[in-house]
Amino acid sequence: MFLKNVWQVAAFSAEIVDRPLARKLLGEDVVLYRTSTGEPAALLDECPHRLAPLSLGKVVDGVLQCGYHGMRFNGDGVCVHAPGQERVPVNAKARSFPVIERHALVWIWMGDPAKADETLAPDVFWMTHPDWAISQGYHHVAANYQLLNDNLLDLSHETFVHSHTIGNAAVADSPLAVSQDGENVIRAHRDMLNCEPPPFYVKAAGFTGRIDRWHTTIFTPPACNIIENGSMPAGSNKEEARRKGLTRERRVINLITPETETSSHYFWAIARCYALEDAELTEYIRAEVSRTFDEDKLILEAQQVRVRGAHFDTFPVTLRADAGAVQARRLVGRLLAEQERRDTPLQVVAQREPV
Ligand code: FES
Ligand SMILES: [Fe+2]
Repeated sequence: MFLKNVWQVAAFSAEIVDRPLARKLLGEDVVLYRTSTGEPAALLDECPHRLAPLSLGKVVDGVLQCGYHGMRFNGDGVCVHAPGQERVPVNAKARSFPVIERHALVWIWMGDPAKADETLAPDVFWMTHPDWAISQGYHHVAANYQLLNDNLLDLSHETFVHSHTIGNAAVADSPLAVSQDGENVIRAHRDMLNCEPPPFYVKAAGFTGRIDRWHTTIFTPPACNIIENGSMPAGSNKEEARRKGLTRERRVINLITPETETSSHYFWAIARCYALEDAELTEYIRAEVSRTFDEDKLILEAQQVRVRGAHFDTFPVTLRADAGAVQARRLVGRLLAEQERRDTPLQVVAQREPV
């Protein structure tokens, strides 16, 4: 059900402070905390003594102290203190997971620790790059992660679900072009030419006249969806418009980590490369996108109820606009089937395109 030999987001960096953070990831109860050096650590949220959740304890001198009988565990899950005795039992070890902190996110590797290779983490450099301003948020969605992938790879739904913010008729009316880059990257692109700017584009990008608009969802398994989107005055030459500063371009960073088979953690951020100092705009984008994703959550959770089992891979009807989602599901399905016999971890390719 879950691809495990891959880095997935466990938390925003800012969420892991001086207290343990409990989070279910890929069906496992995990506790996250910071060690004495400030590094994030992730353990199974289960004390090996009497199975109390370690997240009910506290961080003491950079190690995690169980809230029941006070055993202490370091970031590797090794017990470093057992109250009332000099020596700790040899089997006193909590399961630990590899974690790395990068671009203001904490990433966890839930699969074979021996395969955890830091170079395979998605490169979401926009999150911390000085040329980009970030509006970010989190949604808990009671739906399987592949339903969220479907949603992000078929943005025709913007027309019908998000008419108050980013949707207009041009989205669903414009054809989708889908391509695959290498083994693990699927791109779903749509140009929407000479259209009225949707409400969000008027307020967040300052367009009043007709625009040319485009978006490309770049999917890497299991659920990393980076959307490149942009707009410019209708009829412009893109390169020339870029040179003149007439384009408005954003990256929508959608990082989804399965919680269970029927629920997901949805970490998102909007990166923009214009009006970087405009704090009011940063907040406006955050609030509007949060409202927009509330609309997705409503549909996805209702859809999950109908889907019932998480293994509903083949839907009765397919439209042209489904092409990206269908390819992504095929890819995830193949990787899931291969997971047990792969020798090398899944390679997730970073997307770095100049703007
Ligand atoms: S259950 Fe954790 S120390 Fe006893
Ligand atoms: Fe949506």
